[in-house]
Amino acid sequence: MTDQIIAVDTNLYQVRDGEYYPDDWQSVPSDDQMFETYEAGHLVALVLDSDRSNPLFRSPIGSNAKHILDLGTGKGVWAIDVADTFPNASATVRGVDLFPPPVSWMPPNCILEVDDALQEWTWREPFDLIHMRIMIGSFTETEWERVYKQCYDILNTWGVNTMECAKKAGRELNAIDTMAENIRKAGFVDIHEKEHKWPIGPWPRDKKLKEAGVVNFQHWMSGMEGWCLWLLTKFGSPQPWTKEEVHVYVAKMRAELKNPRHHIYQRARRVWARKPFADELGTEVKRSHRLDRTSDWG
Ligand SMILES: C[S@@+](CC[C@H](N)C(=O)[O-])C[C@H]1O[C@@H](n2cnc3c(N)ncnc32)[C@H](O)[C@@H]1O
Repeated sequence: MTDQIIAVDTNLYQVRDGEYYPDDWQSVPSDDQMFETYEAGHLVALVLDSDRSNPLFRSPIGSNAKHILDLGTGKGVWAIDVADTFPNASATVRGVDLFPPPVSWMPPNCILEVDDALQEWTWREPFDLIHMRIMIGSFTETEWERVYKQCYDILNTWGVNTMECAKKAGRELNAIDTMAENIRKAGFVDIHEKEHKWPIGPWPRDKKLKEAGVVNFQHWMSGMEGWCLWLLTKFGSPQPWTKEEVHVYVAKMRAELKNPRHHIYQRARRVWARKPFADELGTEVKRSHRLDRTSDWG
């Protein structure tokens, strides 16, 4: 048992053979052997994700993230490593545990604090990422529900909602949903609409769809940067992105599209109509509208 642990509120004493644990002994001890165990668990996770550019987490929170929370931080190793990845300490990582970790040094942007995640949370800042790892057995089912709800309430939204950026730009990306109605409003008649799904990548079994998927994959590979650049650098969230951030994002999207496990497609829609003859004007006869929802793949 370290001096640091002895210095904490006596209600929290919890070791193994050192006899410090009270009657409400919880599921795991908090002694050197357990802290070494957490360090080993951290290494396993790093080894298994060592082929990734970021082996610490997968959420694409971007470099604008400001606040990160690690619940049940254990020895604080994940929190410390994540804090180190933010140049100029641009994000703060808070590691929280019932027991203080035996660490003598941590980066300036890492805060390790003793608290009970099951109590009402008093953190003021909205978090960009909340991490929990190897928390098996830490909470009852009702407690898990409460913890997830608290996470939900305090988390920021993130990610790229290009639809939102486009809305901000006053150019919504919903033309395929509005075009039939707009065409009708302009006075066209005999409106036909057919919905399609365009595969992205060679994943369909059908030969023609596979071929279309291969070509569409190239279409996306070459198009994505151009489609995003203006929207994200002008209207990106929470603030406009730099070009470099867009490049990194597009590179990640490319990697996702290449993943053969994803069966990705895009929605497409074809609308055709005709201009009415003079004698049809003012009549309702030909104002029919046919929506064909039959899918391209059976
Ligand atoms: C198995 S360890 C995981 C350590 C760390 N997440 C890691 O991956 O290295 C579980 C940790 O959760 C902490 N814990 C359990 N209940 C907690 C609670 N209500 N509030 C804060 N921490 C808690 C325990 O003290 C322990 O350090």
